[in-house]
Formats: sequence, C-alpha cells, structure tokens
Amino acid sequence: ARLVVLLSGSGTNLQALLDAIERVGEESYGARIVAVGADRDGVAGLERARRAGLPTFVCRVKDHTDRAGWDAALAEATAAHAPDLVVSAGFMKIVGSEFLARFGGRLVNTHPALLPSFPGAHGVRDALAYGVKATGCTVHFVDDGVDTGPIIAQGVVEVRDEDDESALHERIKEVERRLLVDVVGRLARDGYRIEGRKVRVPA
Ligand code: GRF
Repeated sequence: ARLVVLLSGSGTNLQALLDAIERVGEESYGARIVAVGADRDGVAGLERARRAGLPTFVCRVKDHTDRAGWDAALAEATAAHAPDLVVSAGFMKIVGSEFLARFGGRLVNTHPALLPSFPGAHGVRDALAYGVKATGCTVHFVDDGVDTGPIIAQGVVEVRDEDDESALHERIKEVERRLLVDVVGRLARDGYRIEGRKVRVPA
C-alpha cells in the first residue's frame, strides 16, 4: 500500500513508521510511505521526511483565500501521490469536505487520548486537568467530526501523580507509536471493514 503521512510537528509517529518499514521491509510490512505533507513549514517532521529521501509538500491555510481553498489544495497535493491510505499523525488541522470526499474511509488519525474522552487539540492537557487515572491513545478513521470517526484501536496509559502535560504526552506517545505502526500495517496487509461504528480488522 502507498501511504501519505500528514503532520504538523516533531514527526516521531512518522519516524516510527519509517523505522518499522526499514526494519521489516516494505514487502512484509505491506506499505511504504510515498510522501509527507504538512500544514506549515519548518517542522522537524518535514526534516525527518527529507532525511528519508521522501517527497514533501506544505499546504498553509494563509496561502489560500478561504478554508475550502486550502482543503482542496491539500486534497490535490495528497492525491498527486496516489495514496491507498492517508495517515494523519499529529496533523493539527481539521480536513474539510473535499478532502473527506476523496480520502474518507482510508484516512486514519491518531489522537493522544481515549476517545470519545478528551477530543480536540488538547487531549493530554484536558485528561490531566480532569484528574483521570488512566488515559491513552486512539487510532480512528476520520469522519466529518472532530476526533469522532470509528475507532480502530486504543492503548491505555496510566497517569502518575507527578505527571505534567509533557511527561504524560511522552508516555502516551511511546504507546501511540507502537499502536500506529501495528494498525497501519494491518490495514495495509489485511484490509478492514467498517460496520456502522464498528471497525473489523482481521487479527
Ligand atoms: C501525537 O501524540 C498526536 O496524537 C498528537 O500530536 C502528537 C504528534 O506527535 N496529535 P509527533 O509529531 O508524531 O511526534
């Protein structure tokens, strides 16, 4: 399968995918990353992509007259690489109807909380503030809501009394990177079915 990864920041999830594919080989993993896109320049994730020799593209909202124009441009730039699966790994923008029309059903996102709890851009901070004793991460299909699409897999992470946001987020990311690598590989190799809100991925 051809993967396009979208990101906005450090790109450690991208790196986990790159390292896994490097370790087991594209054939046995079942996928290869063909391009990396971002909504902003100058992020470490783009550097990681360039170091891996991957094509990159940047679609900034401010370069477009409106959000729909940005959404269409992002869809075009992504489609240019003919992905089978698009992985949003720390991509901090909500895609619109054009992008969903083209990639819905093969667009997955990873979120650093146990959805439906703590959706949105501050899932780690919100979980910490709420005082939960367990949180985690969720890999899900993207639908037209914010972090509301059918859930594919989740990983649980304990919250420690001494945690601050960055310590907790780092502990979540350790689980999240493994979860994402596992899920993307299975989706690429074994396919999946979505029945209503239930996602079935062969074990
Ligand atoms: C991940 O925890 C993702 O769930 C959240 O932002 C983080 C991105 O981390 N949306 P990285 O850029 O992959 O290191």
